[in-house]
Amino acid sequence: MTYSERLQNRPESAVHMESLYEQIGGAETIERLVYAFYPKVYAHPELIPLFPEGVDEIRAKQYLFLTQFTGGPMLYTDRHGFGNMRSVHEQFQITPARAEAWLTCMREAMDEIGLEGFPRQMLFQMLTNAAHRFVNSPQGGETEPPN
Ligand code: HEM
Repeated sequence: MTYSERLQNRPESAVHMESLYEQIGGAETIERLVYAFYPKVYAHPELIPLFPEGVDEIRAKQYLFLTQFTGGPMLYTDRHGFGNMRSVHEQFQITPARAEAWLTCMREAMDEIGLEGFPRQMLFQMLTNAAHRFVNSPQGGETEPPN
């Protein structure tokens, strides 16, 4: 039997690699996560100046984005097109302190919904890498310029 025949004949369970999306618990977990996360963002002194609009839109977008970020359905791209998240964030002053604040809110949200173990570590590491790439201002530049 050739290698590809052997691959094809393997039982389904042996070839199916569970995505991070599936490992964390899919849509339900992501919904609970974004609902736990944004109240913390909107209450964090470092982050409040960046998020003046109502929470509904950003929470909905983050739900779509995290779904595809973790390997689930491509909901964000379907709805909003191909977006480069780094350039989306370029219009905001993101200091190292703000990146850490964002990650602290995310860590607390994960605690709150009881997301644990390897999938949590994996997702948090991916978000940490992204947050650090979004930093575009030096420390100490947190105050917004006067209008
Ligand atoms: C580094 C710290 C971060 C800060 C300070 C930050 C801040 C922001 C702000 C101010 C907005 C716009 C909110 C609005 O339009 O009302 C935004 C949008 C967004 N952020 Fe972040 N963010 C950070 C990290 C991240 C990370 C790590 C991710 C995911 C990898 C992420 C995903 C998104 C998404 C999906 C949107 C919506 C984009 C859209 O308008 O379609 N952010 N962020």
